[in-house]
Amino acid sequence: MPTLITALLVAAFSFRLVSADLSSGLNGAEVNAVFPGDSNYADASRAYNLRFTLEPAAVAYPTTPEEVSSIIQVGVDNNLKVVARSGGHSYAANGLGGQNGSLVIDMSNMKAITIDSSANTAVIETGNRLGDVALALNAAGRALPHGTCPYVGIGGHSAFGGYGFTSRLWGLALDPIFAINAVLANGTIVRATEDLYPDIFWALKGAAPSFAITTSVEVNTFAAPSYAIVMEYSWSSVDYEMAGQYLYSFQNFSLSGPPSALAGELVLSRGSEEGQVTFALTAAWYGDGDEDSANSAIQPFLDVMPTPTSSQILGDGSYIDSVSVLGGTTLDTSEAPDITDTFYAKSIMTPESEPMTLEACTSFMQYLATEGFTSNTAWFTQIELYGGPNSKIREIPNNATAFSRRDTLFTFQLYASSSNSLPPYPAEGFTFLDGMVSSVTSNMPETWNYGAYTNYLDNELENWQTLYFNDNYPRLKSIKDQVDPADTFWFPTSIEE
Ligand SMILES: Cc1cc2nc3c(=O)[nH]c(=O)nc-3n(C[C@H](O)[C@H](O)[C@H](O)COP(=O)(O)OP(=O)(O)OC[C@H]3O[C@@H](n4cnc5c(N)ncnc54)[C@H](O)[C@@H]3O)c2cc1C
Ligand SMILES: *[C@@H]1O[C@H](CO)[C@@H](O)[C@H](O)[C@H]1NC(C)=O
Ligand SMILES: *[C@@H]1O[C@H](CO)[C@@H](O)[C@H](O)[C@H]1NC(C)=O
Ligand SMILES: *[C@@H]1O[C@H](CO)[C@@H](O)[C@H](O)[C@H]1NC(C)=O
Ligand SMILES: *[C@@H]1O[C@H](CO)[C@@H](O)[C@H](O)[C@H]1NC(C)=O
Repeated sequence: MPTLITALLVAAFSFRLVSADLSSGLNGAEVNAVFPGDSNYADASRAYNLRFTLEPAAVAYPTTPEEVSSIIQVGVDNNLKVVARSGGHSYAANGLGGQNGSLVIDMSNMKAITIDSSANTAVIETGNRLGDVALALNAAGRALPHGTCPYVGIGGHSAFGGYGFTSRLWGLALDPIFAINAVLANGTIVRATEDLYPDIFWALKGAAPSFAITTSVEVNTFAAPSYAIVMEYSWSSVDYEMAGQYLYSFQNFSLSGPPSALAGELVLSRGSEEGQVTFALTAAWYGDGDEDSANSAIQPFLDVMPTPTSSQILGDGSYIDSVSVLGGTTLDTSEAPDITDTFYAKSIMTPESEPMTLEACTSFMQYLATEGFTSNTAWFTQIELYGGPNSKIREIPNNATAFSRRDTLFTFQLYASSSNSLPPYPAEGFTFLDGMVSSVTSNMPETWNYGAYTNYLDNELENWQTLYFNDNYPRLKSIKDQVDPADTFWFPTSIEE
């Protein structure tokens, strides 16, 4: 309690220092911060994607919501744009502001996870990474839907959606959230729910970074499945025309409504000869039963395919081992430092009501088999299964939360790194990925209502307002106008006034 009162007094005090400079403002708020020129500034301001070198005005490390409020007020007093960083994995370094000179609120000192085992809920502070969340919940027999990379932060991930292998079963990472504790641009600390600040709650579920700094999310947890395994199949040296057919068959299988306990993702990569691709499927099964239940769920697709070049079943049958296998690295993120990459990525979300034509599937594979064969980048593409009639993602209407692309069948992630994962990123790498997108879209009707995924953020994307937010954009703009009229929470692709 004394700390709280001190923080509030300090906040009230610093609010009056209108002309105070940034460092004395943050010092006055008694918040840890790193400034340009400090010996740890380079580390504190390093982006996950080394394509970006950014110089924030400061990186501040709050420990309480009250300190977050003080920092925002110091930022406003100094006319700075303010952003939060959770896991720092934004594809365009938006956790550092996406520009030079922003004030960064790094959440890494706020890592509490409080589990209520009788209500089956949890309060998760936004300094946590996905691996740590999975481990803590699993220790209580519980779980949440979320992406595979253990180092991604729950703050950014759940702000923009959050797709993982249990999403057809449980929804996106943002779906189990029933309350969001956040600090607004005017420094007010709120708990937003469907009843309290309902407009803000709606906007935070899909577009949070434009509206508030989230300090914790309150979620309904799920019982960890009693059985889970991961299945990998690979077909090597596939001629592009065959690969187009395989994708079309996977779409057909997906539309037939496989059980929600089944997850699937195609992975396309460079072929061994020009004109070919490597076609792989990673599937997973979460539910009662055993290997036979898992196999029979994927069998209708395997029935229309040739025998795979290789296949394997991964995991010991426990839920947490399936998370670990998919994560590909330790789930305990305190064990090893985070890595970096130098890359550009794009995405396509295909509407379930307008499936791809065989021509679009084949054109995509032809592009990968020719341009992809000669590309000077290290690239991969993933086609994630979101939809199908049994998917939980689509049970919620597109306008129920800010996340507007729930009627998606597939989300394509198109990802190319520099060949050694270090700068510079080759200029051809941008046009290479643009061409990948148009190899699909140019073979679909002009009116095709496809989208793009906010968590695979593309800083070069034109028409992002529609591709990301579609029909929800006007309402987002009007809430932005009310809640953040000075545009304090600005970054490239933040909601406009
Ligand atoms: C290796 C890797 C694997 C991935 N795998 C998946 C996957 O399987 N599924 C999937 O859906 N996505 C995946 N992603 C994408 C990932 O979900 C996004 O990059 C996500 O936004 C990263 O969140 P973060 O907190 O780590 O990043 P940050 O850079 O910290 O934040 C991202 C954005 O959210 C904002 N933000 C962060 N914290 C807060 C907060 N507390 N309050 C308000 N705004 C905040 C930031 O300002 C920034 O705009 C992956 C990314 C990488 C790099
Ligand atoms: C930020 O500043 C650095 C160092 O001066 C510079 O290299 C970089 O291009 C700047 N970035 C932007 C987006 O202006
Ligand atoms: C499409 O799916 C049906 C079953 O739903 C199957 O009988 C048919 O062979 C599939 N066609 C292709 C091209 O995969
Ligand atoms: C969503 O759209 C439906 C149908 O158009 C409408 O009835 C409903 O009120 C909308 N909900 C919200 C939250 O805007
Ligand atoms: C801060 O903004 C919120 C949302 O617009 C509003 O409800 C609240 O009254 C504001 N608080 C102050 C102190 O202005």
